[in-house]
Order: sequence, then C-alpha cells, then structure tokens
Amino acid sequence: MSKFSIAIHGGAGALSDVSEHRTALTEIINEAANLASNASAIDVVERTVVLLENHPLFNAGKGSVLNNKGEVECDAAIMNGTDLDAGAVAGVRGIKNPVALARKVMSDSEHVMLVGDGALEFAASVNAPTEQLDYFVVESRLKQLEEAKKAGKVVLDHSDTEEEKLGTVGAVAIDDKGNLAAATSTGGIVNKKFGRVGDSPVVGAGVYAENGLCAVSATGFGEQFLRTTLSKHIGDWMRYNHVDAQSAAQAGIDYLVEKVNGLGGVIVVDANYNIGIAHSTPLILSASICSGETGARLDF
Ligand code: GLY
Repeated sequence: MSKFSIAIHGGAGALSDVSEHRTALTEIINEAANLASNASAIDVVERTVVLLENHPLFNAGKGSVLNNKGEVECDAAIMNGTDLDAGAVAGVRGIKNPVALARKVMSDSEHVMLVGDGALEFAASVNAPTEQLDYFVVESRLKQLEEAKKAGKVVLDHSDTEEEKLGTVGAVAIDDKGNLAAATSTGGIVNKKFGRVGDSPVVGAGVYAENGLCAVSATGFGEQFLRTTLSKHIGDWMRYNHVDAQSAAQAGIDYLVEKVNGLGGVIVVDANYNIGIAHSTPLILSASICSGETGARLDF
C-alpha cells in the first residue's frame, strides 16, 4: 500500500447533534483513503472535496448557504505543493463542483483565479458540469437566511447558536512521493452581500500547500482568515520554527484569536505525514487517516 496521510473537514462551529456529520465524514474519509492508495495528493484532495460538495449537509456545492439575495455563490481553491501551482474560482453560480473548476483553472489556464461571469465562460469552455440553481438550495438554508435577515446579521454556518455558525469544506493530503496538496470549497457565510468573496479561494488565507512543509485548509469567518493570511502564516510558522503539524495548527489558531479574535479552525498535514487539527470554535467537523491505520479518526 502507498504511504499517505489525509485530513478533511466539513466546517467548524458548535453543533449539539453531530450524528449525521459523523456518518457522512466517516464515509468520505474512507473513500479518500481508498483513492489515496493509488492517486496523487492533488487528485485525492480534488476528488475528496467533490464528495463533500455533493453532500447536502455541508456548506459547499449542493447545500451551500444563501447570500442576501437568496442565491448560492460558491468559492473554491486548490493548491499543489509540488510547484506552488494553484487554481481558484470565486462567486460562481450553477457550477456543480467549484473545486473541479478551480483545478481546471490551475491546469488549463494561465491564471490562478477567475471570478463571476468570466469563470462561467471558462467553465463552459472546459465543459464543467453545471446544475440548475435550485439544485444547490436545501430547505435548511432558506430558514437560516430568513433568521439571519430577521436578526439583521451576516452569520456563519453550522451551529445551534447564530453567533457560532461556521461552514466550508476542505481536504489536505500527502502522497507516497511526499507531494502535499490542499483544497477548500464553500458557499461562504449566510446573508453575505452579493459578490462577497471570503478566504476559501484565496491562496495563503483559506488554502496553502508547499512540499517540504505542509498543506493547510481553513474554515471560519473568512474576513478574519483573509486579514491574518492564516494558512500561509501556518506554513511560515513551520518553516521558521521547525515544528510539526499539530504545533503549527495550534500556533495559527492562537494567532487568529490574538490578532482578530477569530472564529474557526484548520486542518494541516506536514511533510512527515503528521496531521494537525486546531480550532477556536467549540468544534471542527474533521476526520483523518494515515496509511497503515485500521480506521479513521474523527475529532468531534
Ligand atoms: N470561510 C468561508 C468564508 O468565510 O467564506
């Protein structure tokens, strides 16, 4: 069997009933482990995030939260630690799997990020699968938007309390060649302004991967992760302090809290195949598995 380590997340927050999330993440991490036995890290993170995007429970692809117009606008990014190649899309509508489109931006264009109508034009040119807009909207998100509008607030996803709703999905992986990769995808935050872009598609904020160091995927209040460039901060912390994934993940969250009183979490895998998971929310919906282990670890 090939050597690998993988971690995934389905957002952070303060849910009291996580039974459905446990079932979903167990299935998805096991599928990711099967993929990892003969796929590169970049393929594993893309295909795993596609599974998360297709699951209506999570805030990405189908199941995304709604903006202040009651619409779904998705952001996603993918990064290859081998050569720091990256692709991202922001504010896209009707794209079934934004992470797969981000991968196409990386592989089939000379750019890193495409947004809005330009991203859709590019999507058509690479035959990216699309869905009718109502495919993305699940019942619970309509209620969530109604509550947020009533309260006059922009709120995050995944919580029983309005103040602590966080969402986003992501995956980080290292393969048997030591290649690191990360991917992050999201519908953003509930009742966000039309056109708002968060951290998820921004390299260094919601996603980062660099061979020899680590791969990072973040979840939380995007504005705080943008202002702290948190994923790159974690990579640099590791570079200069020579610590493992867990220490770097915790250092990142400590910085997030210290600087901007930030809410969220990160998953990290390092070049020595260690996994790190840290959060400033009560929980992060995360799961991980390394080659040779008999089962996945769920950290919530
Ligand atoms: N972290 C996801 C967002 O704020 O859009």
